[in-house]
Amino acid sequence: MDGEPHDVPISSREHAQSLDAQDPLSHLKEQFLIPSKGQLKAESLQAASRDSASADGHDSENSIYLVYLCGNSLGPQPKLVATRLQQHLNTWSSQGVFGHFKALNQSPLPTWLDADAKASESIAPIVGAHPDEVAVMQTLTANLHFLMSAFYKPDITKRHKIILETKAFPSDHFVVETQIRHHNLNPETSMITISPPTPETPLTTDHIISILDANANDTALLLLPGIQFYTGQFLNIPLITAHARSLGIFTLWDLAHAVGNVPLQLHDWDVDAAVWCTYKYLNSGPGTIGGLFAFKNHLFKILTPSDPEQRGAQLSLQLVPGLLHVVMRELVLRSVVVDERQPDVVRVAPAPLFNSFEDCWVFVDAFAQAIEIAVKAKENGDDGKKQGIEGGELEMTS
Ligand SMILES: Cc1ncc(COP(=O)(O)O)c(C=O)c1O
Repeated sequence: MDGEPHDVPISSREHAQSLDAQDPLSHLKEQFLIPSKGQLKAESLQAASRDSASADGHDSENSIYLVYLCGNSLGPQPKLVATRLQQHLNTWSSQGVFGHFKALNQSPLPTWLDADAKASESIAPIVGAHPDEVAVMQTLTANLHFLMSAFYKPDITKRHKIILETKAFPSDHFVVETQIRHHNLNPETSMITISPPTPETPLTTDHIISILDANANDTALLLLPGIQFYTGQFLNIPLITAHARSLGIFTLWDLAHAVGNVPLQLHDWDVDAAVWCTYKYLNSGPGTIGGLFAFKNHLFKILTPSDPEQRGAQLSLQLVPGLLHVVMRELVLRSVVVDERQPDVVRVAPAPLFNSFEDCWVFVDAFAQAIEIAVKAKENGDDGKKQGIEGGELEMTS
C-alpha cells in the first residue's frame, strides 16, 4: 500500500508515527482540551488556566501535552463544551421561558422541550438501540435502581436471587444489596457472587454459565459489566443474555466502561436492559448525566396503524412472549371480552353500535392490571397455560 513504511520495525516510534499519518480519526484530537504538564503542576485555578499560564511566557511545560490515557476514568474536555454551554446560557438569558419551544435560527441546540428526544436520537446509534429504547437521564447508579425497581420482583418461594460478580464495581454491589433488603430479603441468601477461578484470571463465559445453571430455579436477575472495570475484559453480552433468558433470568448490563469504547448492538443482541455513564469514553464531564436501555419487547406494541385513516374499530396489541394466557384470563375475570391470536396478539374491537366510551375506559383499566399480573406470573415461571379455556381463553377462528 502507498505510504506504508516497509523498512521500519513494527515496534518503532516511526512505525507509530506513520500509522498516525494514515489514521482517518487523527484530526479529532484537535477537538479536545488535553491538560499540559505545566497545568497539572499548578496549585491554583488561576495558574491552571491555560490562558494565564501561557501568558507567563516562561513556563515551557505548558506546551508539553500529556499522553492522556485515562478515557476509562474521565474523558478530557471537548473544546465545544464551553461553546455549547454558553449558547445554552445565551438562550436562557435572551429567551427566558420561550427557550422551551422556540427554535432559534442558526442555533445548533434543540429547544429544551426537544432536548430529551434529541439526546435519545444521539445516543441510540452509539449503543446500537432504537431511540425509543433508550433514555439519557440521571446517573448510572440511579438508573440501576430504576430498572431493578421495574424488573426485579423477587418471590422468596421461587425466584429471588441476584447474581453479580464478586469484583463488581462497589456501587453496583450496594445497589444489589439495597434492592434485596428493600424487598425484606437477605443478601446472604438472595445474592450470589461469581468469582474467577483465581483472582488474576478473567471470568470465562463457561464459568458464568455454570453459575447460572446451578442457580437457575431461584434466580431472578443477573447483573454483569459489559467491560470489567478492573481487568478490562469484554464479556460476551449476547451469548450470556440469551443463556440467562433461556433459564428465565433477566439480565442487566453495566456498560460504564463499554459505551464509546467497543461496538454495541443492544437491540440486535436481544439485551434485556442496560445502564451507563457518559463521563468516561463519551467525554461528557464529571458527574454528568447517565443513560439506560430497555429492550423494546419489554414495552407494549400496537400492530394497528396509528393513523385513524388507516384503521377501523380494531386495535391489535402484540404482547411480550409468554403473557397472552394470563392476560386473557385476567381480562375475563374483570368481565372484559377480547379475542386472541396465538402466540402473542390480543385484538380489541370497540364497535360503535353497542360499545361506549366507558367500555373503552374499562378495557384500558383492566388491561393494565392484567399485564401487571401476567408480567409477575411470567417472572415466577407461570405462563398461565394450565388454566386453559376455563381461565378465560377465547381462541377465535376469524
Ligand atoms: C463499572 C462502574 N459501575 C458503576 C459506576 C458508578 O457510576 P455513577 O457513580 O456515575 O452512578 C462506575 C463509576 O465509575 C463504574 O466504573
